[in-house]
Amino acid sequence: MTRLAKTSSRTASASFRFPPDFLWGASTSAYQIEGAATEDGRGPSIWDSFCKMKDRVNHGHNGDVACDHYHRYPEDVRLMGELGLDAYRFSLSWPRLLPTGKGPVNQKGLDFYDRLIDALLEAGITPWATLYHWDLPQGLDDLGGWTNRDSAGWFADYAVLAARRYGDRVKHWATFNEFSVFTLFGYAFGWGAPSISDRGAHLKTIHHVNLAHGAAVDVLRAHVPEASIGAIHSVQPCRPSSNAPEDVAATELFNEHWNLAFPDPQILGHYPPQIARAIEPYVQAGDMARICRPIDWFGLNHYAPMYGKAEPNMLWGFVFGALPDALPKTGVGWPIDPSAFEDTLRGLTSRYRLPVYVTESGYGTQSREAPNEKDELDDQDRVAYLAGQVAAMQRARESGADVRGYFVWSLLDNFEWGAGYGDRFGIIFVDYATQERILKASARWYRDLIKGTL
Ligand code: NOJ
Repeated sequence: MTRLAKTSSRTASASFRFPPDFLWGASTSAYQIEGAATEDGRGPSIWDSFCKMKDRVNHGHNGDVACDHYHRYPEDVRLMGELGLDAYRFSLSWPRLLPTGKGPVNQKGLDFYDRLIDALLEAGITPWATLYHWDLPQGLDDLGGWTNRDSAGWFADYAVLAARRYGDRVKHWATFNEFSVFTLFGYAFGWGAPSISDRGAHLKTIHHVNLAHGAAVDVLRAHVPEASIGAIHSVQPCRPSSNAPEDVAATELFNEHWNLAFPDPQILGHYPPQIARAIEPYVQAGDMARICRPIDWFGLNHYAPMYGKAEPNMLWGFVFGALPDALPKTGVGWPIDPSAFEDTLRGLTSRYRLPVYVTESGYGTQSREAPNEKDELDDQDRVAYLAGQVAAMQRARESGADVRGYFVWSLLDNFEWGAGYGDRFGIIFVDYATQERILKASARWYRDLIKGTL
């Protein structure tokens, strides 16, 4: 009821044209914002362990405190209400619910998400829960983690727990966030947790994560009445950094790994050609049918086109190449190219034929973004970026892309993985010394966009 009243009160927008039921939201993830890493029975995750390794995360930062969202969620939900968000995408922390990944549940962890979900519903904000945003329980990694075929079963059991506990109130579920990123970075390049660089480990991980996705879809379907189920993929155009044949070939494989290794088997029922050949030893009879389960939407995290380059010393022979000077860059040096977003949205609609929700889109800065003496933060660079992306999304919709919603990354400045707290993606500034939150100009802009007055 609340949502209907809210959307129908919107006025027609002058320059942006989105239907009243278009969903506007913001995204976060557990490890990046919650903090309370050792509180109330939470177990360690592979990211807690990774942050303790020497020289892996900038400045030795970690998620121990982060935005202290575990304690400050009421204020954060109030801010979401001020912005007029329709929906909020967060992730459940597996080690908060199951401290060693399987076995005994942690009641206090379960209670935390009850409180968060109830606060969201009370504020008229639809909860979108992601089961996995990279924080595998360390206890499971000790058993081989995703390289162990049993991981699909562990994940399905965790999904049963979450679905049964929250499924009465949470209807929108994503199985995983950015499959290709955490598997490539964690198991091929060694740049993220659990810091492995091994072909076999990487291929097994790809396949087992796909099996885990399929198993979780079945669990959610069985336990959540009226569930709307999706999976979230990082899809960025992969362009060769030169016309040299070796760069072109390397970029083809880069594209398979980054953009196709997960959505193709999950939605189309087969791996892309080069990966299909490499992964064959790990695929058992019946696996592809277990992976390819009907889902309701495609979650797209989109930031920027990427440039591939041949690099024989890298595990798969490709690496990120130099970016063209001609393209403008965000504050973290990522190319700004709204037409890449537009093309991606149209491309996904025709390849997978599912409604698309943009589950992440945002602008990072490394500058010492800080409020002035009047506590204002005028991040016009972020406003311009978001306006450009939203306009591109509008063009994509008008030319046939089936895009139903947009979640900005991120609600809050937060722990940006290997970059630590130096990179800020929030539309709300977080002063990590005091935990004070301040709406940036981009938050006010987003509020006006949602209201329909832009
Ligand atoms: C993708 C990831 O899902 C999120 O965790 C990360 O912070 C943003 N992109 C920005 O890099």
